Amino acid sequence: ETVEWEAASYDMGGHDTYMHKEISEQPDAVDRVLRGRIDDRFNTVHLGGLNLDPREARGIRRVKILGCGTSYHAGLIGAGLIEGMARIPADAEPASEFRYRNPVVDPDTLYIAVSQSGETYDVLAAVQELKRKGARVLGVVNVVGSAIAREADGGVYVHAGPEVCVVSTKCFTNTVVAFALLAVHLGRIRDLSVTDGKRIIEGLRKLPAQIQEILDGEEDIKKLAAEFAEAKSMMFIGRVRGYPVALEASLKLKEISYIHAEAYPASELKHGPLALIEPSLPTVAIVPDDDLLEKNRAALEEIKARSGRILAVAHREQEKADHTIVVPKNEDELDPILMGIPLQLLAYHTALAMGRDIDKPRNLAKSVTVE
Ligand code: G6P
Repeated sequence: ETVEWEAASYDMGGHDTYMHKEISEQPDAVDRVLRGRIDDRFNTVHLGGLNLDPREARGIRRVKILGCGTSYHAGLIGAGLIEGMARIPADAEPASEFRYRNPVVDPDTLYIAVSQSGETYDVLAAVQELKRKGARVLGVVNVVGSAIAREADGGVYVHAGPEVCVVSTKCFTNTVVAFALLAVHLGRIRDLSVTDGKRIIEGLRKLPAQIQEILDGEEDIKKLAAEFAEAKSMMFIGRVRGYPVALEASLKLKEISYIHAEAYPASELKHGPLALIEPSLPTVAIVPDDDLLEKNRAALEEIKARSGRILAVAHREQEKADHTIVVPKNEDELDPILMGIPLQLLAYHTALAMGRDIDKPRNLAKSVTVE
C-alpha cells in the first residue's frame, strides 16, 4: 500500500495546487474510509483495529478527544457524533491544553487522539502521558505506522491518502467520516436502534456523490470568493453541529488567505460580537435544515438589521442572506461533513484571488513535531 501511494502522491494530476487536488479527491477518499467497514446484516460498522470488545465498549463512561488545529475541529464534530449516536458524554480539547492542565485521568474514559500526520508532538506527548497513567487511548490517524498510531492501544485509520498541502482538507473530511463510523459502531453496541443504524449507514453511502455535487458548483463559489477577497475580516457562525464547521472554515480562510476571521456560536452573537457587525464585515452562516433552522434564521435577521452582508451555507435559499450556497441534504447528523466542503473552496479561491502561496502558507508547517 505504501509503495502505491508513493507513486501517485507527488503528481499534481492537472491541478495547479495540491490543495485543489486534495479538495477534488474527497469523493474517492470518503469512499475509501467507508470501504469494507459496513455490515448491512446488523446495520453496524466493523473497525478492525479498535481492540475494544463489546463488553469494554459498554463500560465506557466518557469520551475525550484530543488533537491540534484542523484535527481538533474534526474531533469536535466527532464528539457530537459519538454523544449523539452512542449516548456517551463526549468532548474534544486541544491536546496541548489538555497536557498542561494536569487533567484527571479516569479509567472509564476512552481517550481518542486525532492526527493527520500521526507525529504532532503535543498529541503524541498527551498520548504518552495518558498511557503512562494507565488510560486506554485510541488513535484516529491518517499516516499508517506513524508515532501516534504505534503508541495507541488501537484505532481507526482514516485512509485519506497522502496530503501534501500544509492545510488539511480531505483528511479533515475523512476524519469526520471515521468518527461517524466509530459512533455507529459504539452506538449499535449501546443504544442506537437498528433503524437509526441503517439510516446513518445509508446517509454515509450517499456522501461521495453529494460531495461531488458540491464540487461541481465550484465556478459559482469562485465568483463569491472574488467578493470576499476584499474583506479585512470575516465572521463565521453556526450552532451545535454547525459551530465546529464555522471554526474550521474560519481557520482555513485565515491560514491560506491571511484574512482575519473568527468563528462564534450563532447564539453567542448577541453577547458581544454583534457590536462588530457592519457592511465591511461579512458573515458566513451555517444554516442546515434541522431542528435549529428557525433559530439560525433569527441570527441572520439580527445581522441583516445591522446591514451586515451574509453568505449562507444552507439546504435551501435563505432570503435574509445576500448569497446562499445550497448543499445537498443528508441525515442531520452527517450534514456538517457536507457543509464544510464549499467553504474549503471559498477559502481556496479567496486566497488564489489574493495571490497567496496556497500550499505553503507563511509561518506554518504541515506537522509540528516539536513543542
Ligand atoms: C499543523 C498544521 C495544521 C494541522 C495541525 C495538526 O499546525 O499546520 O494544518 O491541522 O498541525 O496536524 P496533525 O498532523 O496532527 O493532524
